[in-house]
Amino acid sequence: MDAAQIRDKINRNSVPRHIAIIMDGNGRWAEQQGEQRIFGHTTGVESVREVLMAAQEIGVDYLTLYAFSTENWNRPEWEVNALMDLLVNSISNEIESLNKNKVRLLAIGDLENLPEKCRAELMHAIDKTKHNTGVRLILALNYSSKWELTHAMKHIARDIAEKKLIAEEINDHLISSYLSTAPYPDPELLIRTSGEQRISNFLLWQIAYAELHFTETLWPDFKKAHFFQAIIDYQKRERRFGKTSDQIRPSQPA
Ligand code: FPP
Repeated sequence: MDAAQIRDKINRNSVPRHIAIIMDGNGRWAEQQGEQRIFGHTTGVESVREVLMAAQEIGVDYLTLYAFSTENWNRPEWEVNALMDLLVNSISNEIESLNKNKVRLLAIGDLENLPEKCRAELMHAIDKTKHNTGVRLILALNYSSKWELTHAMKHIARDIAEKKLIAEEINDHLISSYLSTAPYPDPELLIRTSGEQRISNFLLWQIAYAELHFTETLWPDFKKAHFFQAIIDYQKRERRFGKTSDQIRPSQPA
């Protein structure tokens, strides 16, 4: 079955509004081809384009991609530099295409501590796409959940000390409002490629009720058909949010 045939099986009334993706397996893919790891990352950019187009075709509103984690700084220096160069180049090369497709670029993470060139290019692209009303492409850059939660807790503590807030007002909505994802709904679906079954410090708070989709496919091989299939699998799940099956199924007429 080709991608369009898989797409046509999707129920358009229950497409997730927000899908988050851990793009994993670039290095292994490149090694399988007898190439340097960075070849996997550059080929992975093609999968980003595919998934973005696929999201647009079926009306996904938010796509969050884990592009660089706070732990990725521990990789060899040459790989970190190559990844940063790739991000800078991809972001600047794609502005025109993002605008043509009405994609709005956004970012979450510790952006102030990105290399200056990367940060400046990112802010430029965010500004140039800010009026677009199509898919919101949220890049998680220098991001980790533990960084985000620590940052939020410090901010809450500061607001209490400055009497802008009292401890009794803290609830889950308030905590969400202090996270870098505050303007966006929580993802309903999280996809991780390459067969690893872990969350790796990504959106830990926001995926409390997300469905998880793990696939063996390596990120550079992940194309529209895989993305659509993940949504079909998601639509077969019963999302109970702590309730029983009987409570969430529409009641049968007597
Ligand atoms: C994980 O594969 C992938 C990354 C750490 C980087 C992902 C970045 C891109 C695909 C570029 C994104 C570009 C834009 C514009 C969003 P890995 O290196 O951990 O693979 P491995 O587990 O096989 O070693």
